[in-house]
Amino acid sequence: MEDYKRPYVIINSAITLDAKLATPIRDSRISCKEDLVVLHRLRAEMKAVMVGINTLLIDNPSLSVKHVEGEVEWKIVIDTHARTPPEAKVFKTGGKVVVVCGVDADGERIEKLRNAGAVVIKAETTGQRVNLREALGKLREIGVEKVLVEGGGRINWSLIREGLVDRIRLAVLLAFLGSQDAVNVVEGPAMRYISEAKKMELVNVEKCSCGEMLFLDLIPRRD
Ligand SMILES: NC(=O)c1ccc[n+]([C@@H]2O[C@H](COP(=O)([O-])OP(=O)(O)OC[C@H]3O[C@@H](n4cnc5c(N)ncnc54)[C@H](OP(=O)(O)O)[C@@H]3O)[C@@H](O)[C@H]2O)c1
Repeated sequence: MEDYKRPYVIINSAITLDAKLATPIRDSRISCKEDLVVLHRLRAEMKAVMVGINTLLIDNPSLSVKHVEGEVEWKIVIDTHARTPPEAKVFKTGGKVVVVCGVDADGERIEKLRNAGAVVIKAETTGQRVNLREALGKLREIGVEKVLVEGGGRINWSLIREGLVDRIRLAVLLAFLGSQDAVNVVEGPAMRYISEAKKMELVNVEKCSCGEMLFLDLIPRRD
């Protein structure tokens, strides 16, 4: 496979103690005020924020900077079939919207996205989903040097599994949610053996001043 130079990638997720990103009715308001400030500072520093199409369709996030000074230059959606609605909030809240779709995505939908102001990038698909290594390589080519990935679980897992992540920040709410129909911090086929698990190294852990959250900084173990 071609070796693509890629941006520096940080995943940020807010989760419960049982590693859930959202409830069965897709309530994902896990963060406290302090966590939101840290997250928005990261958005401003990284300049590029990426989400999977499910997160865009469910949450309709603006992906902009609030709570602190600064702005996001690139808002990136990973969207194999170009399902991003041209009326989504990302188009109305500043920054360039980049939709990364598969090579076979519908031409009419792509045209509508371009008319809404999106930069559309096409990448090969692997198992009917965007090949993220290639996608990151193409993002680097258009000038994206760092990316803050804000989920959801499917995008998180694809990136971690493929070794495309440099750092992970988890804001952990000290509460259990239960598992049935909730969204996990990583979603997708599980490893068969513990020995195959993607191991992480703990760089820092902090208790939030609200007393209800822990902030974990992790990097992938390379051994
Ligand atoms: N608590 C938090 O911090 C947080 C943050 C973000 C999201 N969330 C929650 O997470 C939920 C959504 O998560 P999700 O796991 O369902 O979806 P997701 O990761 O947001 O999006 C996944 C979709 O992206 C597309 N995709 C394209 N290429 C892919 C690839 N290589 N790997 C993986 N996905 C690829 C696929 O749809 P196509 O096949 O159509 O392309 C896939 O179904 C929402 O409820 C949201 O509220 C929570």
